[in-house]
Amino acid sequence: MRLKNLCWSLLPILALVSQSASASVLAIDYGTDWIKASLMKPGVPFDVLLNKDSKRKIQSAVGWKQGDRLFGTDAANMASRFPNDVFTSLKYLQGAPHDSETVSYYTKISPSEVFETARKTVGLKQSDGTGWNVEELVAMQFAYIKHLAEAVAEEKVKDVVVTVPPFYSQYERDAIVDAIEIAGLRTLALVSDGTAVAVNYAMTRTFTTPEYHIIYDAGASSIVATVVAFTPIDAKSGSPGTHISVAGVGYERKTGGSELDRRMRQILIEMFNTKNRRDIREDKKGMAKLWKEAGRVKAILSANTEAMSSVESLAWDIDFRSKVTRAAFESACGDLKGKFTQPIYDALNEAGLSLDNITSVLLVGGASRTPMIQAAVKAAVGAEKIALNVNADEAPVLGAAFYGASLSRQFKTKNIKVSDISLHDIQASYFAAPTTAVSRPRSITTLIFPSGSKLGTKKTLTFKRKEDFSIFIDYKHLIAPGYPQRILESEITGIAEALGNLTERGAVDPVVKATLSLSDSGFISISEAVAYGEIKDDSIAGKLKGFFGGGSSSSEEATASSEQPAARETDSEAESSSSSAASASASSSSSSPSASPSADAATEKKKALSKEDTIKLKVANTFPVIPPMSVDEKKKARGRLRAIDIEEAAKNRKDEARNTFEGYLYRLRDLLDEENTETPFKKCSTESERKTITETLEDSFLWLHDKGDVAETSQFLDKRISLEALEKPIIHRYQEIEAFPQALNNSQMWNWSTRLFLTEARQNLTAEIAADLPSKWTKEELDGLEKTLKEHETWLNKWVEKQKSVKPNEDPVIETTEMKARAKVLETSLMKLWKRKVPKAKKVKVTSSAAEPEPTPTEGAQGGDSEAPPPPPAGDEIPLERQDGEQQPLKTHERDEL
Ligand SMILES: *[C@@H]1O[C@H](CO)[C@@H](O)[C@H](O)[C@H]1NC(C)=O
Ligand SMILES: *[C@@H]1O[C@H](CO)[C@@H](O)[C@H](O)[C@H]1NC(C)=O
Ligand SMILES: *[C@@H]1O[C@H](CO)[C@@H](O)[C@H](O)[C@H]1NC(C)=O
Ligand SMILES: *[C@@H]1O[C@H](CO)[C@@H](O)[C@H](O)[C@H]1NC(C)=O
Ligand SMILES: *[C@@H]1O[C@H](CO)[C@@H](O)[C@H](O)[C@H]1NC(C)=O
Repeated sequence: MRLKNLCWSLLPILALVSQSASASVLAIDYGTDWIKASLMKPGVPFDVLLNKDSKRKIQSAVGWKQGDRLFGTDAANMASRFPNDVFTSLKYLQGAPHDSETVSYYTKISPSEVFETARKTVGLKQSDGTGWNVEELVAMQFAYIKHLAEAVAEEKVKDVVVTVPPFYSQYERDAIVDAIEIAGLRTLALVSDGTAVAVNYAMTRTFTTPEYHIIYDAGASSIVATVVAFTPIDAKSGSPGTHISVAGVGYERKTGGSELDRRMRQILIEMFNTKNRRDIREDKKGMAKLWKEAGRVKAILSANTEAMSSVESLAWDIDFRSKVTRAAFESACGDLKGKFTQPIYDALNEAGLSLDNITSVLLVGGASRTPMIQAAVKAAVGAEKIALNVNADEAPVLGAAFYGASLSRQFKTKNIKVSDISLHDIQASYFAAPTTAVSRPRSITTLIFPSGSKLGTKKTLTFKRKEDFSIFIDYKHLIAPGYPQRILESEITGIAEALGNLTERGAVDPVVKATLSLSDSGFISISEAVAYGEIKDDSIAGKLKGFFGGGSSSSEEATASSEQPAARETDSEAESSSSSAASASASSSSSSPSASPSADAATEKKKALSKEDTIKLKVANTFPVIPPMSVDEKKKARGRLRAIDIEEAAKNRKDEARNTFEGYLYRLRDLLDEENTETPFKKCSTESERKTITETLEDSFLWLHDKGDVAETSQFLDKRISLEALEKPIIHRYQEIEAFPQALNNSQMWNWSTRLFLTEARQNLTAEIAADLPSKWTKEELDGLEKTLKEHETWLNKWVEKQKSVKPNEDPVIETTEMKARAKVLETSLMKLWKRKVPKAKKVKVTSSAAEPEPTPTEGAQGGDSEAPPPPPAGDEIPLERQDGEQQPLKTHERDEL
C-alpha cells in the first residue's frame, strides 16, 4: 500500500517549493448535472472557479445553437428549443457500452440521439448529423474549464485532478482520462468523490483520536456512502497530521437526483396526457421542457408540500398547468426508499463497523437536499449524527484541488496521508500449459485484487512456464448490466529464450514473474514481466541467499499444483516489488526489514544480484472489449476540437470587426447629423466632403444590411479604413486648430528667450574682452545663433500670417509638427551656448554635452519635450535634463528594468 502525502498549513496555505513552468493545479468535479472546478496556484486565492457569469457551478451541458457552440446554462437553456443539439447528463455515458442498461436508461431521460462507436461505446448525434463520441463532448467541457482557469491563473494550466465515483470501472476511468487528454490537459490523478470530501474535511480539523465518519454523497446519477477513518499521525514520525483511510464503500449506481426527476416527469406526463388525450412523449421539445419543469417542481417540493407546475405552450400550443403534491411525488418514489440507505449499510459492512463506531455522517451532493432522502438517512443513522457543517456542493472539488496540489509536489504543507480502496474483485486467469498435444487447455483463475484492496498496490504472480502465454484480467462480477468483465489481455513473450539464457548461466528452475499494479487512480495493468532464475553463486552471500530465498519458494509452488503453473500473490510495497525477483520467498517478504541481520544481508545481496538473475520479458496489453482511445483517435479528436476553436476564434474576430464597423458607421452618421449645426466636424469639413462621406456612409449601411452576414472579416476592416480615409483630413484640421496656439506659444518663447540671451551675452562678451577675461563664447558663435534666430523668426512671421487667413475647413498651411521641429532647432542652438562653462584658461572648448551632466536643478523636468522653454537667461539655471532626453539614458533604463 502506498500512502500519499497531502499537506497544508493554514491559510495562506501554499508555499511554492520549486518554481517550475506550470505551478497551477486544476481540479474538476465533473457531475451529471453540474461541474465545479477549482484552481490551486500560489498567489491566487484558493476558491472554486467562477464562470463568466460569476457562478460557482457550471451546468454540465454542451450544445449548439445554429452553429454556435454553447456551454453551461447557455447550452442547457437551449435544450427545449434544440433537443437534438444540446447534450446533458453525459456522465452516464462515460465508458458505457452501447448495448448496456445505462445507455437505454439515458435515452429515457435524454432526447439525444445515440449511436454506437467503433469502440462499442456511445456517440451522440447533432441534428445536422455530426456525430461526437462522449469523450469528445466531455473534452469540450474540460477545455472550457481549462480556459476559465487559465484566465485566472494568467498562465497555461495543464495538470488536472478529476473526481470520479469510487465504483467507476476501468472503462469509465479510461473515458475520463481520454477526455482529459483530448482537452489538452494532463491527468495528475482521478480521486473518488468521497475521498476528496474527506480531504476537504480534514483540512480544517485536527484529530486527537481515530474517528470514523460516513460521507453520504447523493448525486444526480448515484448514491455513494463512504466510511472513512481519520487517524492522527504521530508527531514523532515526522510532522503531525492526519491519515485518511477509506474503510468501506456502498453505492447505488442507478438511484439519484435524475431518477427522481424522471419520476416527477412521469407524474407530469400522466397529468398532461390524461387531460389532453395526447401523448406528450411524442414531442421531443415538449419532453425537454417537461424535464426542466420536473427539476423545478422537485426543487419547490423540497420546501413546500405542494407546487404548481406550469409550462406555457408545452406542445401543440397547449398550456400545461397542474398541481403536484409532495405526497404524490414521494409515493411515486416509494420503491426507492431502501435504495437511499442501503449504501450506508453496505459501506459499514465492508468496513466491519457498526453505526456506534461512526462519529458523524456528512451529507454532500445535490440530491442530499431532497427531503425524502434526508429523512431516510436521518431515520437510518439518527438525526444527531448528521453533520451540517460541510459545504455540500464544493467539498469534493476543494478536496480534490488540495489532493492534486500534494501530488504535484510543488506545494509544501502539513502532513495528510490518503489511502483509498478499489471496489471490485479483480481476477487474473490464464490457460495451464498443455499436458499433451490433444488435451483441452485448462483455465486457471486467481483473485488478485479483491474488493477493498488498497489503491497504489502491486502484486507479483509467479509462473512455471516454458512458453509464451497470455494473462487475462477480468472483473469477477458484473460491474453493471451490459458491461464487459474483461479488462485486458496481456501477452507475455520471449519466455523460452529468456529461460534458456538463465539456465545456460546456471539458474535452476527459472520462473516467470508478472507484476500487476492497481494504480492510485484505480487503473489495473500488468506493468512488468520478467524471467527470474537464481544463478548459482558460491560466495557466502550466495549461499545465504539460497538458504533464505530460493529454497522455500519451490516447495510452496509444488503445493499449489504439480504440473500446472502456480500463481502466488505477493503483497508488496511499491518500491520492493520492482525488485520482484527478490520476492521469491513467501508473501510475508514485504515485512522483511524487521528480519534478522543475516536475512537482511541476504535480501541485500539478492537485490544486488537480481539484475543478473532477471530478464525483462515483452508484455503486450490489448483491450479486447472496450479499449481506451488509441493515440490516433485522440489526436483526431483533438484536431476536431481545435478546428472548432479556430472557427470560433475566426467568428469572434469577424463579429468584432463587424461590430466595430457598425459602431463606426453610427458614429459617423451622428457627426453628419444636420441638426447639430456647429460641431467641430462641421466646422472643419467642406460641403462636398460631407457629401462624399454621406454617400459612402449610405452605401456602407446598405452593404452591411445586404452582405453583412456573408462578408469576410477583411471586408469590414477595408470598408472602415476607406471611410476613415475620408474622415481623416477633417480630423486633422480640427487637431491642428486645437494644437496651433500652443505650438505658436512655444515658438515665441524660444524666440524670446534667445533674443534675451543674445542681448546679455553680447554685453558680457564686450565687457570681458575689455577686461581681457576668458569668455564663454566667441562673437562668431553669437552671430551664428542670431542667424538661426532670424531664420526662425522670418519663417514664423511669414507662415503664421498665412495660417491666419486659412479657413477651418481648409487644410492648414503650416503644421504644428513643423513649428515644433523648427523651435527645437533654435532651442538646441541656444542650449549649446547656454550650457557652456567659463573656461579656466583658453583650453578645452567644448566637451561632448551629452556626456557631462551639470549639477541639475531640483525643479526637475517640466512636462513634455519643448513645450515650456526655460526661464529667461536672467535666471540662474536651465533645467538641463529635459532639453533633449539624451542626457539620462541610464536612469531611465534602470527604472524600466525594475
Ligand atoms: C466499534 O464499536 C464496537 C462497539 O461499540 C467496539 O467494540 C469496537 O471496538 C469498535 N470498533 C472500532 C474499530 O472502533
Ligand atoms: C543472456 O542475456 C544477457 C543480457 O541480456 C546477455 O548479455 C547474454 O549474452 C545472454 N546469454 C545468452 C547465453 O544468451
Ligand atoms: C503661452 O505661455 C505662457 C507662459 O507659459 C502662458 O501664460 C500662456 O497661457 C500660454 N498661451 C497659450 C495659448 O498656451
Ligand atoms: C520674436 O521675438 C522678438 C523679440 O522679442 C519679437 O520682436 C518678434 O516679434 C518675435 N517674433 C515672433 C514671430 O514672434
Ligand atoms: C553675464 O554676466 C553676468 C555677470 O557675470 C552673469 O550673471 C550672467 O549670467 C551673464 N549672462 C550670460 C548670458 O552668460
